[in-house]
Amino acid sequence: MSLNVIIMAAGKGTRMKSTKPKVLQPLAGKPLLAHVLMTAQKINSQKNIVIYGFEGQKVKDAFADEPIEWVEQTEQLGTGHAVQMALPHLPKDGKSLILSGDVPLIGADTLQKLVDSNAPFAMLTMQMTNPFGLGRIIRKDGKIIAIVEEKDATDAQKQLTEINSGIYCVANEILHKYLNNLTNNNAQGEYYLTDIVKMAVDDGIDIATVSPAFAFEIEGVNDRIQLANLERTWQRHQAEILMKNGVHIIDPSRFELRGDLKVGRDVQIDINVIFEGDCKIGDNVIIGAGCIIKNSEIASNTIILPYSLFDHASVGEHNQIGPFARLRPQAITADGVHIGNFVELKNTQMAQGAKANHLAYLGDATIGQKTNIGAGTITANYDGVNKYKTVIGDEVRVGSNAVLIAPVVIGDRVTVGGGSVITKDCQDDTLVIARGRQVAIDDWVRPKKNTD
Ligand code: UD1
Ligand code: CA
Repeated sequence: MSLNVIIMAAGKGTRMKSTKPKVLQPLAGKPLLAHVLMTAQKINSQKNIVIYGFEGQKVKDAFADEPIEWVEQTEQLGTGHAVQMALPHLPKDGKSLILSGDVPLIGADTLQKLVDSNAPFAMLTMQMTNPFGLGRIIRKDGKIIAIVEEKDATDAQKQLTEINSGIYCVANEILHKYLNNLTNNNAQGEYYLTDIVKMAVDDGIDIATVSPAFAFEIEGVNDRIQLANLERTWQRHQAEILMKNGVHIIDPSRFELRGDLKVGRDVQIDINVIFEGDCKIGDNVIIGAGCIIKNSEIASNTIILPYSLFDHASVGEHNQIGPFARLRPQAITADGVHIGNFVELKNTQMAQGAKANHLAYLGDATIGQKTNIGAGTITANYDGVNKYKTVIGDEVRVGSNAVLIAPVVIGDRVTVGGGSVITKDCQDDTLVIARGRQVAIDDWVRPKKNTD
């Protein structure tokens, strides 16, 4: 049977106090709407329809690469009106899964349960100790007969604790039949999607309910406090999944995963580490406090000392990196590499056992096996217009404060004298010194201050 997904995302999100549409506010590093879309894509649907409105172009631009059928709702007249805009895009038969762009953490398993329900109208509801602000489910003899919004509820109805999540799976036939009959005769002057429940029930249609596996799945984001709370809830949930799989997270309340993390056994993660994008960590890796690891791979048995940054980097086994190291895109290390404090790598590959222990910039370079880069070494890779490569051989010793002006090739087992400015290629097995010679002037008299 055909299934479409409709995501309501036209609202402004007034309570965010932002110039950005609400669905573009980030949770775990991704816009709210991105979470919903990612989950929707796990369901086997014909198309994903997004209802957009407030600052709609910004929303469309943010998802330009996604296969989305965009439907505009120029005026935000309510959730019922929003779905009504999608009617011309829906076939007469089949079902639609209706989601909210501001309920980001809905899970694919929960949605599948809704979709698998045989009822022509299935909705996601939940018992809540504090249901304030949400639509309440009205039942009679156990069966749903209506949904009442907080603002329209009587005192007795406000006591009800079963709430509407705003997520439904409905036969298109029902949507086509009832949406055009909605009125906005209610406390908010809006066309409520929820009013089709009563209409359907009056025509003898049974409403089935499904509950989510986790309460956070149906939590909506209306202001920045809710956003921050949901962020913490989600981070805690992700940390718990990792801990159940054997990761030692020292403090799950100070753990951040903004993306996807694949992680081996006995990995230890100290406080305030941030993972972004797609990261992969091997067995027995130890990650010190305050590291930021983005789209990077770290192989087994490597130790990362505190406050090191990785961006599209790939680190080998048995490395020691940091503290305060920065590995930028295409920084690649083989096994047994050491990178110390204030060392920056960009598009640089270090072979097995190579070391750069202090204060260096290594850009557009290849560094051979067991080569040692002295403190203060710089590969001058940029002439202000073009970038050039520095090639350093095996077992090279680069003395402190050397500047290697690219393009330049330094052969195997070369020793570069400290303070050298290397502008020409160096042959294998040579000692190369390129600096002003030290001179001493005997009996030097220091200048005296003029007194007249
Ligand atoms: C809605 C439900 C309420 C439920 C709650 C769960 C209605 C009438 N009420 O209330 O029963 O408990 O969700 O979170 O449906 N939107 C549009 N166009 C509009 C209006 C809204 O696209 O004209 C979008 C919003 O951007 C948002 C979603 O629909 O993503 C929900 O709208 P919102 O105004 O937040 O509804 P609630 O008051 O939360
Ligand atoms: Ca809402």
